[in-house]
Amino acid sequence: MTFQALGLIEPLQRTLESLGYRQPTPVQKQAIPAVLAGRDLMAAAQTGTGKTAAFALPQLQKLLLEGVTAPKAVRTLVLVPTRELAEQVYQSFRSYGGNLPLKCAVAYGGVPIEGQISKLRKGLDVLVATPGRLLDLHDQAAISFELLTTLVLDEADRMLDLGFERDLDILLAAMPKQRQTLLFSATFSDAIRQLASGMLRDPVTIQVSASNTTTKTVRQWLIPTDKRSKPELLLHLLKKHRWGQVLIFVKTRKGVEALIKTLQEHGYTADAIHGDKTQPMRLRALDRFKQREVQLLVATDVAARGLDIEALPQVVNFDLPTVAEDYVHRIGRTGRAGMEGEAVSLVCADEVELLKDIEGLIGQVLHRVEEAGFEADHRVPETGSKGAALAAAKKAAAEAPRKKRPFTGPPGGRAAAKQAQAGATAAAKPGSAGKAGAGVGAKGVAGAKTGAAAVAKSAARSTAGRAASAGTIIVTGGRGAKSLARSAGKAQAQGNPRRAKGGAR
Ligand SMILES: Nc1ncnc2c1ncn2[C@@H]1O[C@H](COP(=O)(O)OP(=O)(O)OP(=O)(O)O)[C@@H](O)[C@H]1O
Ligand SMILES: [Mg+2]
Repeated sequence: MTFQALGLIEPLQRTLESLGYRQPTPVQKQAIPAVLAGRDLMAAAQTGTGKTAAFALPQLQKLLLEGVTAPKAVRTLVLVPTRELAEQVYQSFRSYGGNLPLKCAVAYGGVPIEGQISKLRKGLDVLVATPGRLLDLHDQAAISFELLTTLVLDEADRMLDLGFERDLDILLAAMPKQRQTLLFSATFSDAIRQLASGMLRDPVTIQVSASNTTTKTVRQWLIPTDKRSKPELLLHLLKKHRWGQVLIFVKTRKGVEALIKTLQEHGYTADAIHGDKTQPMRLRALDRFKQREVQLLVATDVAARGLDIEALPQVVNFDLPTVAEDYVHRIGRTGRAGMEGEAVSLVCADEVELLKDIEGLIGQVLHRVEEAGFEADHRVPETGSKGAALAAAKKAAAEAPRKKRPFTGPPGGRAAAKQAQAGATAAAKPGSAGKAGAGVGAKGVAGAKTGAAAVAKSAARSTAGRAASAGTIIVTGGRGAKSLARSAGKAQAQGNPRRAKGGAR
């Protein structure tokens, strides 16, 4: 199969040849003809399998062949969750559309808005943006959606989940109803699938491999240890394996800074990306890491999604992520474009529930390797024998009946909170877990319950987040819910209700 056979025009074929793209990836094979045919799309494909080109190439072609832009207008809008990803997707459009007479720009927060306004003045064919900054541009009447023909949500499940809902509701209300909508991600929960179906018209659904699976090109394992031993263990692993470039994920901003200090004290070159850094510092850190000017990049989940760091060999989860999907995205920073990679997670006793959530989501039990001298005093309970049942329970819980809700609910939606709660209840129903457990024995049933509980828990987490964005503070174990609740409180104190929602600006 060639790009030509997919219907791409000659100038794009030439560009792809110069980029060394010999043949389309599976998601590109399926998505490109559907996008060219004007269909709505929900595409799930593993990390690093070329989803960006799957939407960018046919979009560029359509923009070239149909219509022109006008002052302040944007014809294709691509929304992404983080600023770094916005920059990257914009660069991809530039490189794929390098020899085409189309105007592309990027807009995200943390940098002056004036340059972005001036780019919009003459109109654009493609704008890649984070929702918060886009809303600011919209508020300032710097952008018009009148000519908008296509909306792409990259990392769509993240865009439709916590934090972005209010921004998106306002933005969607301002966009033409008649448009093409394309959703792409490596992970889609069932709740998000249902939410998304309300914004798609007769969509083509692409599912390249079993949902939420990690890519086979990444060798994954975990090392059980105590929390306090983690910094020493990381230093030991760096030395023992002589790792080169490593991306290290840490749960909190404070944790990132503390680890950076330790690593630098031990002579490593390391830089950080997290929400307290200025945007120029964040971009510089990523750039230095990509150029291999620093060996280690320590980051919060702000770097978990979408970033394409060429041939990155190693990811370390210093802490497990609190949202199971983020595990899939984090480890997907390695093993991209068919290359091999490794991902190791340092897991302590109080992270065992997170581990179960992750194993339930990916339908796989992570291989455990004890590291001599770093064995846990506080034992990390076994999850292994229940793995198969966990996966079955996840599937059964997902199949439990749920109410559909169209996407255009009230901003910050009580309806959304209710719906997520309904999902949580449905998922937690003993019947669904029991069904999954049937045939796998008593042990299996126990595991199945855990799996259903994990699904219910993550649904409950999104309930908390949505409620928080509506101003209600619900305290759960979920990081998203807490920070949302915090920012909701802060924003209301400042008298700015729109700020009460978190998310990238
Ligand atoms: N057909 C192709 N042939 C060779 N390389 C490709 C092809 N398509 C994409 N790539 C390369 O694969 C890498 C991953 O692509 P991309 O970032 O689009 O993945 P993704 O599926 O969006 O991953 P994620 O889920 O992490 O966002 C990029 O470096 C890209 O240049
Ligand atoms: Mg991507």
